[in-house]
Amino acid sequence: MITMTMNADERKGVINKNIYGHFAEHLGRCIYEGIWVGPDSPIPNTRGVRNDVIAALKELAVPVLRWPGGCFADDYHWRDGIGAYKDRPSMINMHWGGVVENNHFGTHEFFDLCELIGAEPYICGNVGSGTVQEMRDWVEYCTFSGSSPLADERRMNGRDKPWRLPYFGVGNENWGCGGNMTPEYYANEYRRYATYVKNSGGNNIYRIACGPNGGDYHWTDVMMRDVFAPKEKLIQGLSLHYYTVPRVWNKKGAATGFTQDEWFDTIKKTLFMEELITRHSTIMDRYDPEKKVGLVVDEWGTWYDVEPGTNPGFLYQQNSLRDALVAGINFNIFNNHCDRVSMANIAQTINVLQAMILTEGAKMLTTPTYHVFSMFKVHQNAARIPLSFTSSEFEMNGVKIPAVTASASVDGGDVMHLSLTNAHLTETIEVKCDIRGRNTSNVSGSIITADAMDAHNTFAKNDAVTVKTFDGVSLKNGVAFIKLPPRSVVTAEFR
Ligand code: AHR
Repeated sequence: MITMTMNADERKGVINKNIYGHFAEHLGRCIYEGIWVGPDSPIPNTRGVRNDVIAALKELAVPVLRWPGGCFADDYHWRDGIGAYKDRPSMINMHWGGVVENNHFGTHEFFDLCELIGAEPYICGNVGSGTVQEMRDWVEYCTFSGSSPLADERRMNGRDKPWRLPYFGVGNENWGCGGNMTPEYYANEYRRYATYVKNSGGNNIYRIACGPNGGDYHWTDVMMRDVFAPKEKLIQGLSLHYYTVPRVWNKKGAATGFTQDEWFDTIKKTLFMEELITRHSTIMDRYDPEKKVGLVVDEWGTWYDVEPGTNPGFLYQQNSLRDALVAGINFNIFNNHCDRVSMANIAQTINVLQAMILTEGAKMLTTPTYHVFSMFKVHQNAARIPLSFTSSEFEMNGVKIPAVTASASVDGGDVMHLSLTNAHLTETIEVKCDIRGRNTSNVSGSIITADAMDAHNTFAKNDAVTVKTFDGVSLKNGVAFIKLPPRSVVTAEFR
Protein backbone atom coordinates (compact mmCIF):
# COMPACT_ATOMS: atom_id res chain seq x y z
CA MET A 1 0.00 0.00 0.00
CA ILE A 2 1.29 3.45 -0.92
CA THR A 3 0.23 6.39 1.21
CA MET A 4 -0.01 9.54 -0.86
CA THR A 5 -0.91 13.13 0.02
CA MET A 6 -2.41 15.37 -2.60
CA ASN A 7 -2.07 18.99 -1.52
CA ALA A 8 -5.16 20.13 -3.36
CA ASP A 9 -5.08 23.69 -2.03
CA GLU A 10 -1.56 24.29 -3.36
CA ARG A 11 -0.52 25.29 -6.90
CA LYS A 12 3.02 24.63 -8.11
CA GLY A 13 3.16 26.20 -11.54
CA VAL A 14 1.26 25.59 -14.74
CA ILE A 15 1.74 22.50 -16.88
CA ASN A 16 2.54 23.99 -20.27
CA LYS A 17 0.27 22.45 -22.86
CA ASN A 18 3.32 22.13 -25.13
CA ILE A 19 4.58 19.26 -22.96
CA TYR A 20 2.13 17.24 -25.05
CA GLY A 21 3.81 18.28 -28.32
CA HIS A 22 4.77 16.19 -31.32
CA PHE A 23 7.64 15.84 -33.77
CA ALA A 24 7.28 14.92 -37.46
CA GLU A 25 10.41 14.51 -39.56
CA HIS A 26 11.08 13.73 -43.19
CA LEU A 27 12.04 10.23 -42.14
CA GLY A 28 10.68 6.94 -43.44
CA ARG A 29 6.91 7.08 -43.74
CA CYS A 30 6.21 9.85 -41.25
CA ILE A 31 5.59 12.73 -43.63
CA TYR A 32 5.11 10.84 -46.90
CA GLU A 33 2.33 8.23 -46.61
CA GLY A 34 1.75 8.96 -42.93
CA ILE A 35 0.67 12.58 -43.23
CA TRP A 36 1.02 13.57 -46.85
CA VAL A 37 -0.50 11.55 -49.66
CA GLY A 38 -0.86 14.46 -52.09
CA PRO A 39 -4.05 16.04 -53.41
CA ASP A 40 -4.47 13.45 -56.19
CA SER A 41 -4.35 10.42 -53.89
CA PRO A 42 -7.34 8.04 -53.73
CA ILE A 43 -6.89 8.18 -49.94
CA PRO A 44 -9.35 10.83 -48.70
CA ASN A 45 -7.37 13.99 -48.02
CA THR A 46 -7.59 17.72 -47.54
CA ARG A 47 -5.13 19.53 -49.80
CA GLY A 48 -2.89 16.44 -49.70
CA VAL A 49 -3.10 15.67 -45.95
CA ARG A 50 -4.87 12.43 -44.95
CA ASN A 51 -8.32 13.07 -43.49
CA ASP A 52 -8.14 10.10 -41.08
CA VAL A 53 -4.89 11.45 -39.65
CA ILE A 54 -6.26 15.00 -39.37
CA ALA A 55 -9.25 13.69 -37.41
CA ALA A 56 -7.12 11.53 -35.10
CA LEU A 57 -4.63 14.32 -34.34
CA LYS A 58 -7.36 16.91 -33.78
CA GLU A 59 -8.87 14.58 -31.22
CA LEU A 60 -5.55 14.58 -29.32
CA ALA A 61 -5.41 18.39 -29.15
CA VAL A 62 -1.79 18.39 -30.36
CA PRO A 63 -0.53 21.77 -29.09
CA VAL A 64 2.68 22.10 -31.10
CA LEU A 65 4.34 20.27 -33.99
CA ARG A 66 8.10 20.26 -34.62
CA TRP A 67 9.28 19.92 -38.24
CA PRO A 68 11.18 19.16 -40.59
CA GLY A 69 13.76 17.31 -38.39
CA GLY A 70 15.67 15.94 -36.61
CA CYS A 71 18.84 15.26 -38.53
CA PHE A 72 16.94 16.10 -41.71
CA ALA A 73 16.66 19.74 -40.58
CA ASP A 74 20.37 20.43 -40.93
CA ASP A 75 20.33 19.08 -44.48
CA TYR A 76 17.10 20.84 -45.52
CA HIS A 77 16.97 23.89 -47.74
CA TRP A 78 13.56 25.48 -47.44
CA ARG A 79 13.59 27.05 -50.90
CA ASP A 80 13.44 23.52 -52.38
CA GLY A 81 10.02 23.11 -50.80
CA ILE A 82 8.06 26.11 -52.12
CA GLY A 83 6.39 26.90 -55.45
CA ALA A 84 4.81 24.56 -58.00
CA TYR A 85 5.44 20.87 -57.27
CA LYS A 86 6.86 20.28 -60.74
CA ASP A 87 9.54 22.92 -60.14
CA ARG A 88 10.66 21.65 -56.74
CA PRO A 89 14.05 19.95 -56.95
CA SER A 90 14.51 16.49 -55.50
CA MET A 91 17.26 15.58 -53.07
CA ILE A 92 18.61 12.47 -51.39
CA ASN A 93 17.58 12.05 -47.78
CA MET A 94 21.08 11.09 -46.72
CA HIS A 95 20.31 10.47 -43.07
CA TRP A 96 17.26 8.31 -43.52
CA GLY A 97 17.47 5.45 -45.97
CA GLY A 98 19.07 7.37 -48.84
CA VAL A 99 15.68 7.72 -50.52
CA VAL A 100 14.65 10.48 -52.91
CA GLU A 101 12.86 13.39 -51.26
CA ASN A 102 10.70 15.24 -53.80
CA ASN A 103 10.04 18.23 -51.54
CA HIS A 104 6.29 18.15 -52.15
CA PHE A 105 5.72 18.66 -48.46
CA GLY A 106 7.31 22.03 -47.74
CA THR A 107 6.67 25.24 -45.83
CA HIS A 108 3.13 25.93 -47.10
CA GLU A 109 2.06 22.32 -46.59
CA PHE A 110 3.48 22.30 -43.06
CA PHE A 111 1.64 25.44 -41.97
CA ASP A 112 -1.52 24.12 -43.61
CA LEU A 113 -1.17 20.86 -41.63
CA CYS A 114 -0.77 22.84 -38.41
CA GLU A 115 -3.89 24.84 -39.18
CA LEU A 116 -5.83 21.68 -40.04
CA ILE A 117 -5.03 19.97 -36.73
CA GLY A 118 -4.95 23.12 -34.59
CA ALA A 119 -1.28 22.83 -33.58
CA GLU A 120 1.26 25.63 -33.28
CA PRO A 121 4.21 25.37 -35.67
CA TYR A 122 7.74 24.77 -34.44
CA ILE A 123 10.27 24.93 -37.28
CA CYS A 124 13.81 23.67 -36.80
CA GLY A 125 16.28 25.57 -38.99
CA ASN A 126 19.49 24.48 -40.68
CA VAL A 127 22.77 25.37 -38.97
CA GLY A 128 24.81 22.31 -40.02
CA SER A 129 24.77 22.87 -43.79
CA GLY A 130 22.82 26.12 -44.15
CA THR A 131 23.72 29.77 -43.96
CA VAL A 132 22.65 32.55 -41.65
CA GLN A 133 21.03 34.25 -44.62
CA GLU A 134 19.04 31.15 -45.53
CA MET A 135 17.69 31.00 -41.99
CA ARG A 136 16.82 34.70 -41.78
CA ASP A 137 15.12 34.57 -45.18
CA TRP A 138 12.96 31.63 -44.16
CA VAL A 139 11.75 33.53 -41.11
CA GLU A 140 11.02 36.61 -43.21
CA TYR A 141 9.24 34.54 -45.87
CA CYS A 142 6.95 33.07 -43.22
CA THR A 143 6.28 36.01 -40.95
CA PHE A 144 6.71 39.36 -42.73
CA SER A 145 3.41 41.16 -43.15
CA GLY A 146 4.52 44.10 -45.29
CA SER A 147 5.80 44.11 -48.82
CA SER A 148 9.26 42.63 -49.34
CA PRO A 149 10.58 40.39 -52.11
CA LEU A 150 10.28 37.36 -49.83
CA ALA A 151 6.83 38.20 -48.45
CA ASP A 152 5.63 38.90 -51.99
CA GLU A 153 7.00 35.56 -53.13
CA ARG A 154 4.98 33.91 -50.35
CA ARG A 155 1.91 35.69 -51.67
CA MET A 156 2.62 34.51 -55.20
CA ASN A 157 2.82 30.99 -53.81
CA GLY A 158 -0.68 31.33 -52.42
CA ARG A 159 -0.36 32.70 -48.89
CA ASP A 160 -1.26 36.33 -48.42
CA LYS A 161 -1.28 36.68 -44.65
CA PRO A 162 1.95 35.95 -42.81
CA TRP A 163 1.88 32.86 -40.65
CA ARG A 164 2.40 32.94 -36.95
CA LEU A 165 5.68 31.18 -36.21
CA PRO A 166 5.96 31.02 -32.42
CA TYR A 167 8.82 28.50 -32.09
CA PHE A 168 12.08 28.24 -34.01
CA GLY A 169 14.95 25.84 -33.39
CA VAL A 170 18.44 26.99 -34.30
CA GLY A 171 19.78 23.66 -35.52
CA ASN A 172 19.28 20.11 -34.32
CA GLU A 173 21.75 17.84 -32.53
CA ASN A 174 24.64 20.05 -33.56
CA TRP A 175 26.85 17.88 -31.34
CA GLY A 176 26.13 15.03 -33.82
CA CYS A 177 24.28 14.86 -37.14
CA GLY A 178 23.88 18.67 -37.15
CA GLY A 179 27.62 19.34 -37.65
CA ASN A 180 29.55 17.46 -34.95
CA MET A 181 30.35 20.71 -33.14
CA THR A 182 31.81 21.28 -29.71
CA PRO A 183 29.55 23.20 -27.32
CA GLU A 184 31.94 26.16 -27.34
CA TYR A 185 31.82 26.35 -31.14
CA TYR A 186 28.07 25.84 -31.34
CA ALA A 187 27.44 28.49 -28.67
CA ASN A 188 29.16 31.06 -30.89
CA GLU A 189 27.34 29.82 -33.98
CA TYR A 190 24.08 29.95 -32.07
CA ARG A 191 24.64 33.59 -31.14
CA ARG A 192 25.30 34.48 -34.76
CA TYR A 193 22.34 32.59 -36.25
CA ALA A 194 19.87 33.52 -33.51
CA THR A 195 20.65 37.21 -34.01
CA TYR A 196 18.99 36.98 -37.41
CA VAL A 197 15.93 35.01 -36.28
CA LYS A 198 13.94 38.20 -35.90
CA ASN A 199 10.53 39.08 -34.58
CA SER A 200 8.47 40.94 -37.11
CA GLY A 201 5.05 42.55 -36.83
CA GLY A 202 3.26 40.81 -34.00
CA ASN A 203 5.21 37.58 -34.36
CA ASN A 204 7.36 36.81 -31.34
CA ILE A 205 9.70 33.90 -31.72
CA TYR A 206 10.71 31.61 -28.88
CA ARG A 207 14.21 30.63 -30.01
CA ILE A 208 15.33 27.15 -29.06
CA ALA A 209 19.01 26.26 -28.97
CA CYS A 210 20.36 22.79 -29.51
CA GLY A 211 20.86 21.35 -26.07
CA PRO A 212 22.57 18.30 -24.64
CA ASN A 213 22.59 14.73 -25.76
CA GLY A 214 21.22 12.92 -22.71
CA GLY A 215 23.62 13.35 -19.81
CA ASP A 216 26.07 15.76 -21.44
CA TYR A 217 25.99 18.29 -18.59
CA HIS A 218 28.99 20.15 -19.94
CA TRP A 219 26.98 21.12 -23.03
CA THR A 220 24.26 22.67 -20.86
CA ASP A 221 26.80 24.51 -18.75
CA VAL A 222 28.54 26.02 -21.81
CA MET A 223 25.27 27.10 -23.41
CA MET A 224 24.10 28.82 -20.26
CA ARG A 225 27.53 30.37 -19.64
CA ASP A 226 28.27 31.52 -23.20
CA VAL A 227 24.80 32.32 -24.50
CA PHE A 228 22.35 32.96 -21.68
CA ALA A 229 24.66 34.76 -19.24
CA PRO A 230 26.04 37.34 -21.69
CA LYS A 231 23.12 37.50 -24.17
CA GLU A 232 20.00 36.51 -22.31
CA LYS A 233 17.55 37.85 -24.90
CA LEU A 234 18.93 35.55 -27.61
CA ILE A 235 17.70 32.31 -26.05
CA GLN A 236 14.32 31.26 -24.75
CA GLY A 237 14.62 27.47 -24.86
CA LEU A 238 17.33 24.83 -24.61
CA SER A 239 16.54 21.41 -26.02
CA LEU A 240 17.25 18.00 -24.51
CA HIS A 241 17.19 14.73 -26.44
CA TYR A 242 16.89 11.42 -24.69
CA TYR A 243 15.64 8.14 -26.11
CA THR A 244 14.62 5.04 -24.19
CA VAL A 245 16.63 2.19 -25.74
CA PRO A 246 16.06 -1.10 -23.87
CA ARG A 247 19.40 -2.69 -24.75
CA VAL A 248 22.34 -1.25 -26.71
CA TRP A 249 22.34 0.90 -29.83
CA ASN A 250 23.31 -1.86 -32.26
CA LYS A 251 20.83 -4.33 -30.75
CA LYS A 252 18.10 -2.36 -29.12
CA GLY A 253 15.48 -5.08 -28.67
CA ALA A 254 12.19 -5.75 -30.40
CA ALA A 255 9.04 -3.64 -30.09
CA THR A 256 6.91 -6.71 -29.36
CA GLY A 257 7.71 -10.28 -28.29
CA PHE A 258 10.25 -8.99 -25.74
CA THR A 259 11.20 -10.59 -22.42
CA GLN A 260 10.29 -9.49 -18.90
CA ASP A 261 13.88 -8.35 -18.47
CA GLU A 262 13.50 -6.06 -21.46
CA TRP A 263 10.29 -4.63 -20.01
CA PHE A 264 12.13 -3.91 -16.75
CA ASP A 265 15.15 -2.35 -18.46
CA THR A 266 12.89 -0.19 -20.61
CA ILE A 267 11.10 1.19 -17.57
CA LYS A 268 14.38 1.69 -15.73
CA LYS A 269 15.87 3.59 -18.64
CA THR A 270 12.82 5.75 -19.11
CA LEU A 271 12.87 6.67 -15.41
CA PHE A 272 16.33 8.13 -16.04
CA MET A 273 14.51 11.12 -17.55
CA GLU A 274 13.86 12.26 -13.95
CA GLU A 275 17.59 12.43 -13.18
CA LEU A 276 18.38 14.09 -16.50
CA ILE A 277 15.85 16.87 -16.03
CA THR A 278 16.81 17.40 -12.41
CA ARG A 279 20.53 17.68 -13.17
CA HIS A 280 20.21 19.84 -16.29
CA SER A 281 17.77 22.08 -14.39
CA THR A 282 20.23 22.42 -11.53
CA ILE A 283 22.88 23.69 -13.96
CA MET A 284 20.39 26.04 -15.58
CA ASP A 285 19.31 27.32 -12.16
CA ARG A 286 22.87 28.44 -11.44
CA TYR A 287 22.73 30.93 -14.32
CA ASP A 288 18.99 31.43 -14.55
CA PRO A 289 17.34 31.13 -11.13
CA GLU A 290 14.24 32.89 -12.46
CA LYS A 291 13.80 30.09 -14.97
CA LYS A 292 13.56 32.32 -18.00
CA VAL A 293 14.94 29.62 -20.31
CA GLY A 294 12.72 26.60 -20.81
CA LEU A 295 14.02 23.07 -21.09
CA VAL A 296 12.53 21.74 -24.32
CA VAL A 297 12.62 17.95 -24.48
CA ASP A 298 12.02 18.03 -28.20
CA GLU A 299 12.94 14.41 -28.87
CA TRP A 300 11.99 11.60 -26.51
CA GLY A 301 10.44 8.16 -26.69
CA THR A 302 11.30 4.52 -27.28
CA TRP A 303 13.74 3.38 -29.93
CA TYR A 304 13.65 -0.36 -30.79
CA ASP A 305 14.93 -2.52 -33.63
CA VAL A 306 12.87 -1.85 -36.76
CA GLU A 307 10.09 -4.26 -37.66
CA PRO A 308 11.53 -7.25 -39.55
CA GLY A 309 11.54 -6.73 -43.30
CA THR A 310 11.28 -2.94 -43.15
CA ASN A 311 13.91 -0.44 -44.29
CA PRO A 312 16.37 0.00 -41.38
CA GLY A 313 16.61 3.69 -42.24
CA PHE A 314 12.87 4.19 -41.76
CA LEU A 315 12.76 3.45 -38.01
CA TYR A 316 9.35 1.80 -38.20
CA GLN A 317 8.37 -0.01 -34.99
CA GLN A 318 5.21 -1.40 -33.39
CA ASN A 319 3.93 0.15 -30.21
CA SER A 320 2.68 -1.83 -27.24
CA LEU A 321 1.40 -1.50 -23.71
CA ARG A 322 5.06 -1.03 -22.69
CA ASP A 323 5.11 2.19 -24.75
CA ALA A 324 1.97 3.33 -22.95
CA LEU A 325 3.84 2.97 -19.65
CA VAL A 326 6.84 4.84 -21.07
CA ALA A 327 4.59 7.70 -22.19
CA GLY A 328 2.74 7.89 -18.88
CA ILE A 329 5.97 7.86 -16.87
CA ASN A 330 7.53 10.61 -18.99
CA PHE A 331 4.41 12.76 -18.77
CA ASN A 332 4.37 12.45 -14.99
CA ILE A 333 8.04 13.48 -14.92
CA PHE A 334 7.46 16.44 -17.27
CA ASN A 335 4.35 17.57 -15.36
CA ASN A 336 6.26 17.48 -12.07
CA HIS A 337 9.04 19.59 -13.61
CA CYS A 338 6.73 22.11 -15.22
CA ASP A 339 8.69 24.96 -13.61
CA ARG A 340 11.51 24.27 -16.11
CA VAL A 341 10.13 21.99 -18.83
CA SER A 342 8.29 24.26 -21.24
CA MET A 343 7.82 21.83 -24.09
CA ALA A 344 8.32 18.19 -25.07
CA ASN A 345 7.91 16.59 -28.49
CA ILE A 346 7.53 12.85 -28.79
CA ALA A 347 9.49 11.19 -31.60
CA GLN A 348 7.57 10.80 -33.81
CA THR A 349 3.92 11.38 -34.71
CA ILE A 350 3.37 8.70 -37.37
CA ASN A 351 5.10 5.50 -38.54
CA VAL A 352 8.45 6.36 -36.89
CA LEU A 353 9.78 5.33 -33.44
CA GLN A 354 7.21 5.78 -30.63
CA ALA A 355 4.37 6.75 -32.92
CA MET A 356 0.81 7.72 -32.11
CA ILE A 357 -0.46 6.49 -35.44
CA LEU A 358 0.60 3.72 -37.83
CA THR A 359 -0.57 3.51 -41.43
CA GLU A 360 -0.56 0.89 -44.15
CA GLY A 361 -1.91 2.23 -47.43
CA ALA A 362 -5.37 3.57 -46.70
CA LYS A 363 -5.50 1.84 -43.29
CA MET A 364 -4.67 3.56 -40.02
CA LEU A 365 -4.40 2.47 -36.41
CA THR A 366 -3.98 4.33 -33.15
CA THR A 367 -1.31 3.02 -30.79
CA PRO A 368 -1.31 2.61 -26.99
CA THR A 369 0.82 5.77 -26.88
CA TYR A 370 -1.95 7.64 -28.72
CA HIS A 371 -4.34 6.66 -25.96
CA VAL A 372 -2.00 7.91 -23.23
CA PHE A 373 -1.84 11.30 -24.97
CA SER A 374 -5.60 11.28 -25.09
CA MET A 375 -5.88 10.41 -21.40
CA PHE A 376 -3.32 13.04 -20.29
CA LYS A 377 -4.61 15.95 -22.35
CA VAL A 378 -6.58 17.03 -19.25
CA HIS A 379 -3.27 18.28 -17.82
CA GLN A 380 -2.65 20.74 -20.66
CA ASN A 381 -2.35 24.24 -19.18
CA ALA A 382 -3.68 23.02 -15.84
CA ALA A 383 -2.18 24.14 -12.52
CA ARG A 384 0.10 21.54 -10.99
CA ILE A 385 -0.88 20.17 -7.60
CA PRO A 386 1.99 18.80 -5.52
CA LEU A 387 1.91 15.18 -4.38
CA SER A 388 3.98 13.48 -1.77
CA PHE A 389 4.49 9.73 -1.63
CA THR A 390 7.15 7.04 -1.73
CA SER A 391 6.61 4.40 -4.35
CA SER A 392 6.76 0.72 -3.62
CA GLU A 393 9.50 -1.14 -5.44
CA PHE A 394 9.61 -3.19 -8.59
CA GLU A 395 12.51 -5.61 -8.32
CA MET A 396 14.08 -7.83 -10.94
CA ASN A 397 17.39 -9.68 -10.81
CA GLY A 398 18.28 -7.84 -7.61
CA VAL A 399 17.73 -4.39 -9.16
CA LYS A 400 15.02 -2.15 -7.71
CA ILE A 401 13.14 0.71 -9.34
CA PRO A 402 10.02 2.59 -8.27
CA ALA A 403 6.89 0.85 -9.53
CA VAL A 404 4.62 3.89 -9.44
CA THR A 405 4.84 7.43 -10.80
CA ALA A 406 2.17 10.12 -10.44
CA SER A 407 1.29 13.74 -11.13
CA ALA A 408 -1.77 15.87 -10.48
CA SER A 409 -3.32 19.11 -11.66
CA VAL A 410 -6.46 21.19 -11.51
CA ASP A 411 -7.95 22.66 -14.67
CA GLY A 412 -9.74 25.96 -15.34
CA GLY A 413 -13.09 24.39 -14.46
CA ASP A 414 -11.77 23.34 -11.03
CA VAL A 415 -11.70 19.67 -12.01
CA MET A 416 -8.75 17.84 -10.49
CA HIS A 417 -6.88 15.00 -12.21
CA LEU A 418 -4.45 12.50 -10.75
CA SER A 419 -2.48 10.38 -13.23
CA LEU A 420 -0.59 7.27 -12.15
CA THR A 421 1.46 4.53 -13.72
CA ASN A 422 2.12 1.08 -12.28
CA ALA A 423 4.98 -0.55 -14.20
CA HIS A 424 5.05 -3.65 -12.01
CA LEU A 425 4.50 -6.71 -14.16
CA THR A 426 2.48 -8.72 -11.67
CA GLU A 427 1.48 -6.70 -8.58
CA THR A 428 -1.68 -4.72 -8.04
CA ILE A 429 -0.65 -1.70 -5.96
CA GLU A 430 -3.08 -0.02 -3.63
CA VAL A 431 -2.78 3.72 -3.20
CA LYS A 432 -4.44 5.54 -0.32
CA CYS A 433 -4.51 9.18 -1.33
CA ASP A 434 -5.35 11.79 1.28
CA ILE A 435 -6.83 14.79 -0.51
CA ARG A 436 -5.82 17.74 1.64
CA GLY A 437 -7.41 21.19 1.43
CA ARG A 438 -10.43 20.44 -0.69
CA ASN A 439 -13.84 18.80 -0.41
CA THR A 440 -14.33 16.23 -3.10
CA SER A 441 -17.47 14.19 -3.50
CA ASN A 442 -17.20 12.63 -6.89
CA VAL A 443 -14.53 10.52 -8.55
CA SER A 444 -14.31 8.64 -11.83
CA GLY A 445 -11.42 7.01 -13.62
CA SER A 446 -10.01 5.77 -16.89
CA ILE A 447 -7.37 3.12 -17.51
CA ILE A 448 -5.07 1.69 -20.17
CA THR A 449 -3.97 -1.88 -19.52
CA ALA A 450 -3.98 -5.35 -21.05
CA ASP A 451 -3.17 -8.93 -20.08
CA ALA A 452 -0.07 -9.23 -22.25
CA MET A 453 2.84 -6.89 -21.61
CA ASP A 454 3.33 -6.49 -25.36
CA ALA A 455 -0.37 -6.12 -26.23
CA HIS A 456 -0.72 -3.85 -29.24
CA ASN A 457 -3.19 -2.72 -31.84
CA THR A 458 -3.17 -4.01 -35.40
CA PHE A 459 -4.81 -2.92 -38.62
CA ALA A 460 -7.20 -5.86 -38.19
CA LYS A 461 -7.90 -5.13 -34.50
CA ASN A 462 -7.43 -1.55 -33.42
CA ASP A 463 -8.91 -1.86 -29.94
CA ALA A 464 -6.68 -4.35 -28.12
CA VAL A 465 -5.24 -1.45 -26.09
CA THR A 466 -7.47 1.58 -25.60
CA VAL A 467 -8.77 3.79 -22.81
CA LYS A 468 -11.43 2.06 -20.70
CA THR A 469 -13.51 3.13 -17.75
CA PHE A 470 -11.73 2.36 -14.49
CA ASP A 471 -13.77 1.33 -11.47
CA GLY A 472 -10.85 0.70 -9.13
CA VAL A 473 -11.05 4.14 -7.52
CA SER A 474 -13.36 5.16 -4.68
CA LEU A 475 -13.69 8.01 -2.19
CA LYS A 476 -14.33 7.93 1.54
CA ASN A 477 -14.15 10.94 3.86
CA GLY A 478 -11.80 12.87 1.60
CA VAL A 479 -9.53 9.90 0.99
CA ALA A 480 -9.24 8.26 -2.41
CA PHE A 481 -8.52 4.53 -2.60
CA ILE A 482 -7.01 3.42 -5.88
CA LYS A 483 -6.26 -0.17 -6.86
CA LEU A 484 -3.68 0.12 -9.59
CA PRO A 485 -3.53 -3.05 -11.66
CA PRO A 486 -0.11 -4.21 -12.84
CA ARG A 487 1.04 -2.75 -16.21
CA SER A 488 -1.40 0.12 -16.12
CA VAL A 489 -1.79 3.84 -16.73
CA VAL A 490 -4.67 5.45 -14.84
CA THR A 491 -6.20 8.89 -14.57
CA ALA A 492 -8.67 9.68 -11.81
CA GLU A 493 -10.93 12.71 -12.09
CA PHE A 494 -12.17 14.48 -8.96
CA ARG A 495 -15.04 16.95 -8.96
O1 AHR B 1 14.10 10.93 -34.29
C1 AHR B 1 15.08 10.32 -35.05
C2 AHR B 1 16.42 11.03 -34.97
O2 AHR B 1 16.92 10.94 -33.68
C3 AHR B 1 16.41 12.52 -35.25
O3 AHR B 1 16.45 12.81 -36.59
C4 AHR B 1 17.66 12.97 -34.57
O4 AHR B 1 17.57 14.31 -34.13
C5 AHR B 1 17.83 11.99 -33.44
O5 AHR B 1 19.10 11.49 -33.36
